[in-house]
Amino acid sequence: MKRVLSGIQPTADSFHLGNYLGAIKQWVALQDTHDAFYCVVDLHSLTVDVDPKLMTERTLKSVAQLIALGLDPNRCTIFVQSHIHQHNQLAWIMECLAGFGEASRMTQFKDKSQKAGSDRTTVGLFTYPLLQAADIMLYQANLVPVGEDQRQHIELTRDLGQRFNSRYGDTLVVPEPYIMKAGAKINDLQDPTAKMSKSAASQSGVIDILDEPSINIKKIKSAVTDTGREVTFDEAEKPGISNLITILSSLTSKSQSEIEKEFSGKGYGDFKGEVAQAVADYFSPIRNRSLELLTSKSELAEIIKAGAKKAEVVAEATLAKVYKNLGLLPRKGSE
Ligand code: TRP
Repeated sequence: MKRVLSGIQPTADSFHLGNYLGAIKQWVALQDTHDAFYCVVDLHSLTVDVDPKLMTERTLKSVAQLIALGLDPNRCTIFVQSHIHQHNQLAWIMECLAGFGEASRMTQFKDKSQKAGSDRTTVGLFTYPLLQAADIMLYQANLVPVGEDQRQHIELTRDLGQRFNSRYGDTLVVPEPYIMKAGAKINDLQDPTAKMSKSAASQSGVIDILDEPSINIKKIKSAVTDTGREVTFDEAEKPGISNLITILSSLTSKSQSEIEKEFSGKGYGDFKGEVAQAVADYFSPIRNRSLELLTSKSELAEIIKAGAKKAEVVAEATLAKVYKNLGLLPRKGSE
């Protein structure tokens, strides 16, 4: 089986609908066809200001939600990045392999550092993609399921893997990007031309998985719609309705054209009511399971512990090979 690895930052109190349909739903599918490793990348979230209490809480919430959304610890490896020290160790090797100019060309770094200004841009933000390259190659992953916005980081990872192998001998698997379908791109309910994002100015267009169903029903019922009355898919002319059609068809087995047919002549009100209900029905049990895992902390702790154990075996083997091929002197008694 080919190996996949992906990561998600624990930077919010809840994952949102866009995280689920754009990424996590594909992760769930991949666990049956691949040897899958999924990582809550807490170290990556240190590149911006940290609130220690929130950090712990959000890490636990992230793992709980991943499980409630369908990642099965028996069919994949779920772990917390900071539990595996080898990520930082391989990241340093990546930092010594990457060129300063090469890292400076990362568009995500350029955007974020420009917004923050140089005094508030951490060195960690600059080396972020090198830690990401380490995350991926530490597990010798063949595929990295990510959104389009991560393509450049995966290209950098490939370049670094090839560079390492050509200088020091075949050591690291050079991964392929597995860019997730644009069809699963979910937009903000209040600004349906922008991607649903936790950093949106207002949260009224963002569906949080851990929110009470009644809140999400309200948000969907007040979603921005478009002029006209027909429920038809047309991203240019009807971005609001098209977004809601995508949401409904992703959460049910109904196709776009079935939805159009079902609501022909019925108007937006009925349609939004159905989308709202579908979202509530889909996420209620997931929310309940997440909250259950978060209250009965021992089950969650066991899962996290077991995940780290599985991940560590692979990570240690890769790092040992990397150190050996670099000619780092083995510590006596540890061979
Ligand atoms: N940078 C990724 C994002 O923001 C998160 C991430 C960190 C990641 N390490 C990774 C994704 C390794 C895939 C593989 O979405």
